[in-house]
Formats: sequence, structure tokens, C-alpha cells
Amino acid sequence: MRKVLVEDLKPGMRVGKTIYLSDGRVMLNAGVILKKSYIRRLEELSIPAVFIVDESLPNVEIPEVISDQTRLKASMALRECMGNIELGSQLNARKVKQAVNDIVDELASKRHVIIHLNDIRAYDDYTFGHSVNVTVLSILTAMNMGYNKLELRDLGVGALLHDIGKTLISEEIILKPGPLNETEFKEVKKHCQLGYELIKDAEGISTYSAHVAYQHHERRNGTGYPRGLKEEEILEFAQIVAVADVYDAITTDRVYAEALPAHKAMQTLEEMMQAELNSDITQHLLSNIAVYPIGTLVRLNTGDLGLVVDVNKEDLSAPVIRIVENATGNRPEEITEVDLMYSEEVVVEKVITDCEREVIS
Ligand SMILES: [Fe+2]
Repeated sequence: MRKVLVEDLKPGMRVGKTIYLSDGRVMLNAGVILKKSYIRRLEELSIPAVFIVDESLPNVEIPEVISDQTRLKASMALRECMGNIELGSQLNARKVKQAVNDIVDELASKRHVIIHLNDIRAYDDYTFGHSVNVTVLSILTAMNMGYNKLELRDLGVGALLHDIGKTLISEEIILKPGPLNETEFKEVKKHCQLGYELIKDAEGISTYSAHVAYQHHERRNGTGYPRGLKEEEILEFAQIVAVADVYDAITTDRVYAEALPAHKAMQTLEEMMQAELNSDITQHLLSNIAVYPIGTLVRLNTGDLGLVVDVNKEDLSAPVIRIVENATGNRPEEITEVDLMYSEEVVVEKVITDCEREVIS
């Protein structure tokens, strides 16, 4: 299975992973052979990329951090919540809290969770998918930091609702596929306070969760918004969600910005954590993320081309690679795997993206 950008899709390719819309409907099932009309529909829905079955590569299962069912439940709870707010009613937290409890329980039941990749979602669904990812990343990070279940739940509710204030901002600005001008950016910035006000009066939600919405764009050096808070003036919950929010935004394909692969996103976060983000929290988040996720094609310093088929939990930058093409351009006759944790002289030189692969094959 490999990720292919929608503009590179061709009829006849087989879908590797089911694509859901945020209301729970299936857009395309795994196993379906693409037709021209399906590709057109994907374009219409602004879905940036699709997982495709690649017969020329070994078949690897990409582990899911939470089940599709739990992910959808959270996404639908948020969707309903936002719908109600648009209609002018009060925020009803019951379903949101239930969905967050499910995520906490599911993550807590696993001993060691490694994030391999973000799911692929429609652009008009960006807020839902993004908010669920931020929730998962925030809870995992806080679990590493030793938070208890009650704290994880309050943090999770804050994370799932962190952008809820966007419901009250014009859709034209929120969905604008390109850079915002000064006036538009000023408008978007209002979502923090608007979100805080929506959440703080809701029944059964902790004030801490409301402050996550208020403070998730604050930066430690005071360059954030809306209040320009600094360092410990920013609630730890909000600092966690800030790191998760940045990581998910830069690793997600957007219509106007292709996703960064995990290893590049890590560099970006490490640069940001010097001044803007909390470095301890960033390290806790990164300790759950595979630098080279399962299913990534890489060029090794030996010249061999290989596919990541497993990761070492002890060293997430040293995965297990199955060689698919040796340095002379031939397929190996036998299955050959290199475990980079035990082969110090072999390292990943380059991550091969899909367009580069077209050139190779
Ligand atoms: Fe935000």
C-alpha cells in the first residue's frame, strides 16, 4: 500500500484503505478499482490523497492508533456539536465526553502506541479529522507525561473542541484554499476566544478544557495569540494541544500544501520548540511517532531501495527495511530484510516520495 496524490491517480488502481466522510458515510471502500468518475468525485470533494494497493511492493499492514469506529464516533460527535452551535443552541457535551472517554480507554489499553501516519480525509472535513488527530496526539503525549485518566479526559475534551470557535467564523475564510490576508487572519484569530466562551458555560465541562480553546495558539516566547501569553502563563494542557496541533497541521495533506513526511515534521517541531513550543512536551509527543512509518519507501546509503516493514520501539529512527530493489536496480531473488538497529553502518539516506518512485520504476 502506498499513498498517491489525487492528481497522480489513474483508473485501474485499487484503493488500499477505506475513505470515510465525517458523517460516517463510506466514500470509497478498500479493494475498489478506481474509475475516472471516482477520481473526479475525489477531486470535487478536495480529498488530497488516497492509499493505493501496490502489487510491486510487499503488502504491509499499517497499524491504526485507534479504530475507525472510535475515530468516526469522535468526528460525528464534534460534527453534531458544531451543527447545534450553528443553529444557535448551547453546546451539548455529552457525546463529546463519551467519544473522548472511548479514545482514552482505547489508548490506555495498549502498552506501546506508535503513530505511523495520519489518516486521509476530505478537505471540507478538515476540522473534524484534524481535531480527532489532535485529541489522540494530545492524550498520548499526556499519558507519557504521567497524567491520570481524569486529567486525560479534561485534556481530551479541550483538544477535541479546541477549534470549535471556528463555527462562528465565516466559512469562506475558514475554507479559503490559500494564504489569508490581514483582515481575514484577524477574523480567524477570534476563534480562540469565541471557543472559550462557547465551552466555559457548557454544563459538565471543566474550565481547563475551555482554556485549551483560549490558549492553544499562544507561544512560549509571547508571539502567539490572542493574548500573547508567555511561558508558564500558558496552561500546560494548552501547551500540549499546541504541540499536537502544529504536528498534525504540518503532516496533513492540504489542498494548497502537501504534507511533510514524519522525519521532516520532526525537524520543524524541533526548530519550533527552541522558542515557541515546550521542549519537554515536544519530546514526549515525538517519542510516540515513527520517524520512518511502516509503508515508507527509503533509499539506503548502500544504494538499495527498501520498504519500511517494521519499527523498533527502542529506536524509532532505526526501522526494519525489506529490500525491494538493490543498488544495481534489480529485484532481490530472496526476501532480504535489514534491521537498522543492528546494522550501524546502514542508514536511511532519503525518503522516496511517490513522484520520485515513478521515475525509478
Ligand atoms: Fe486553532
